[in-house]
This record gives sequence, C-alpha cells and structure tokens, in this order.
Amino acid sequence: MSSVELIDLRSDTVTLPTRDMLDAIRRAKLGDDVFGEDPTVNELEKLAAEKMCKEAALLVTSGTQANLISLMSNTKRGDLVILESESHIYWYERGGISMIAGLLPWPLKSNMGALDPLDIEAAIRPQNLHFPEPALMCLENTHNRHGGTVITPNQIKAIREVADTHNLKLYMDGARIFNAAIALKINVKELAKHVDNLMFCLSKGLCCPVGSLLVGAYDFIERARKLRKVLGGGMRQAGIIAAPGIVALESMIDRLSEDHKNARRLAEGISRIDEIKIDLSCVQTNIVCFDISGLGMTSESFVSMLRKKCILALAMTKNKVRMVTHKGIEEEHVEKAVAAINNISSEL
Ligand SMILES: Cc1ncc(COP(=O)(O)O)c(C=O)c1O
Repeated sequence: MSSVELIDLRSDTVTLPTRDMLDAIRRAKLGDDVFGEDPTVNELEKLAAEKMCKEAALLVTSGTQANLISLMSNTKRGDLVILESESHIYWYERGGISMIAGLLPWPLKSNMGALDPLDIEAAIRPQNLHFPEPALMCLENTHNRHGGTVITPNQIKAIREVADTHNLKLYMDGARIFNAAIALKINVKELAKHVDNLMFCLSKGLCCPVGSLLVGAYDFIERARKLRKVLGGGMRQAGIIAAPGIVALESMIDRLSEDHKNARRLAEGISRIDEIKIDLSCVQTNIVCFDISGLGMTSESFVSMLRKKCILALAMTKNKVRMVTHKGIEEEHVEKAVAAINNISSEL
C-alpha cells in the first residue's frame, strides 16, 4: 500500500485474494457441486471438518447464509433461540432469524460478548403451554460488536453444561474463529469441541474473495445442504471459491497474529489521544473500537474527516468508531492512522 493510497481499516472483508489463491483458482479441478461432483469443494469441506474435528462441512456463500442455515437446521419454526444482544445474527442479518427461519430470538446481555451461564439458566422457562420451546443457543467468537473479543474454551464449556441440562443445541458464529484461536494460542479444535456446530468465514481475515463453511455432525450438514438449496445457495463449479479456501486454511491462519499486533499498536496509539476513550482490555484480536464523543462530533463526521486524510474507518454508533487490521495493513499504516486521528483532535 503506497502513501497516496487509501488505508482501508473499515473491515477485514476488504482483503483481496493473494497470488497463491489466484493461482489455485486457475488450477482448480471443477465439477458440478449440486451433484456433489466438484473435487475442490469436496476437498475443502473435508479439510474444514478435520480442522474443527467434526464429522462434516458445507461450503456456503456467506457468513449470513451460514448463520441462517444453521438456525434452520438446528430448530423448527416457532422455537426460541437464545443469543447475545449485540450479536451479528441479531443486529446485522435483516432479521432473517424471524423473517425466514420463523424463530423467536431471545437476546441476553453479556460481558464483552461472553454470556453468563446463570443468565442463560434464568432465561430458560419451564415447559408450559404459553411458552415457545427453547431449542438453541448461539455464541459469537470473536465478537464483532464488542470489538473482536474472545470467548475461551472454559467459558464455552460452562455454557455447554447449561445446554445439556436443558437439551438445547449450541451453535457458534465463528466468522473469525481463527482470530480467537490465535489470540488464545490454542488449536481451533479446543473452541469447536463444546459446540454442536459452527461456521467460519473464509472471506474476512483469511483473504478469500467469498465463502463460509458450516461444520457439524453428518445429519446437521445433510439438513443444511437441503436448506442451502432452498435458499438458492446451491452452486455449480464452486471449486473456484473452494480453491482459495484451501490455500487460506493451509497458509493464512498463523499470520493473523500480525493483524493482532497491529490492532494493539493502533489501540495504544489511539489511547494516547486525550479526547478519545478506548478500553484496551477489549482489544484482543484485530478489531479496535473507540469512543470519539470527547471530540464533540458524531462518528459520521469523524469518519468523513478521516477519509479526507485517506484513512477509512466505520461509524458503528453515534459515538463509536471501528477500525480493523488485516493483510495489507502494516505498522506504517497504523502510524499514519494514529497521526491522522491526532491531527483531527489537534485541529479542533
Ligand atoms: C460475527 C459475524 N458473523 C457473521 C457475519 C456475516 O458474514 P457475511 O458478511 O459473509 O455475510 C459477519 C460479518 O462481518 C460477522 O462479523
């Protein structure tokens, strides 16, 4: 990235496929995946299931589609789903949980994205003619709106115990699950083992152009495959999507630690600006959220001022701004971003 180019910190979804990925796309062996005949898709799905130590996997078009299919595959219409009140499913998926899946979302507040098992226990009402049947709990790891915070295997295990007591399924929106594993310095299997099923995205920090994977038991994935068809997500020569996914799983995970280091650098730089409030304890992976109300402007105006300085960020709420590090963002870009924010605050 040269100095005249935009430094795009809006999201890790802006990453472009690497040269290895483009080569892999060119070389990919293809077939019709609706017939189950795309060898590259089959290879990626096998690899994804192995990585998470689950029975099977399914390539879908996006994280949103993965979440919707999982909700539907884990429940029946009219069921109640417990989820975190700031979760992506609840906030950013246009209410597909209700509009398409026909489910009742039951949002609970959390501490940095981690639900308290006691709150979950309290939310589960007894079997009664009046109440919908609770069927599923959803976790999000890392947690986007909480600023990329991580949930540990022990926290997941404690929630699993509540799920087992009440015969609920446990699903994890692991769009950035590899960021969590890298931050905790553990094998991703440790995060997957206490949930029934999960999804992760190829198209975020792992740099693929498109695609997410659902992972779980054979019967869950079989239902998911049929639901994907219903939702128009059956793809033909999807090996061109799967090929960079294989490259991502084989070679793009370990480098996420660089994004985490850059996020920390960015957060620490921002924390030295008096007018800005940032909770450094929330900066655990590649997302940095901060409060700019001390600058006396809205986050929309702040973001447009930053854009004039060639830095792109996202206005999350009236006062909250988000920046995300990813491949292509180096230490020098972080320094420029901090300098630009410093400029804005001193120009006021
Ligand atoms: C935690 C989480 N889940 C799901 C999604 C949805 O992924 P997609 O944009 O591929 O639909 C996102 C996207 O940012 C996310 O952050």
